[in-house]
Amino acid sequence: MVLGVLGSGSGSNMQAILDAIEEGTLDARIGLVLSDNPDAFILKRAEKHGIETGIIDCRGFKTKFPEEAQAETALRLQEAGVELVCLAGFLRLVKWPLLDVFPQRILNIHPSLLPAFPGLESWKQALDAGEREAGCTVHFVDEGMDTGPIILQESVPILSDDTAETLHARIQVIEHRLYPAAIRKVGRAVL
Ligand code: GAR
Repeated sequence: MVLGVLGSGSGSNMQAILDAIEEGTLDARIGLVLSDNPDAFILKRAEKHGIETGIIDCRGFKTKFPEEAQAETALRLQEAGVELVCLAGFLRLVKWPLLDVFPQRILNIHPSLLPAFPGLESWKQALDAGEREAGCTVHFVDEGMDTGPIILQESVPILSDDTAETLHARIQVIEHRLYPAAIRKVGRAVL
């Protein structure tokens, strides 16, 4: 199974996917890593492992993922032979035409118990709302923001002395196990 990964930040989830592949618990390879942020650490991590990388040119838009950029991204992923696209800390909304080129083939990891707290910094939203548990979700991407059918989800208790940082760190420990497991599940079912 050839994976393409899109990320905007540190890439610890991409690293967890790579580790699972290297440990032999995920039968896949990462064919291409793309980022909308030229300075993102995810690119350095990928290069260290000899994985092809590239920059997504979002035409100066800060948050929008313009149609031309989505079309270019789809083409690059296709050229790399990608079968399944994994969003790993990618902070732009994927829509047409990328979604249509990879129908039911784009996954996202989100740091909340969806449908609760979509959007940015969800762990902070859960903390501010006085929730007693947070969590993370891997789901198929559709036209909405952090919507789409859920593949796997796991909860994390919120402790009385949690800060945004400690809570996010505990959620990430779960994310790093959950994402490879979700990719395995989808790979068995649809590819
Ligand atoms: C992860 O916690 C991921 O769930 C979150 O960004 C972080 C990326 O970390 N994604 C979202 O909030 C998407 N809405 P990473 O770059 O270390 O994998």
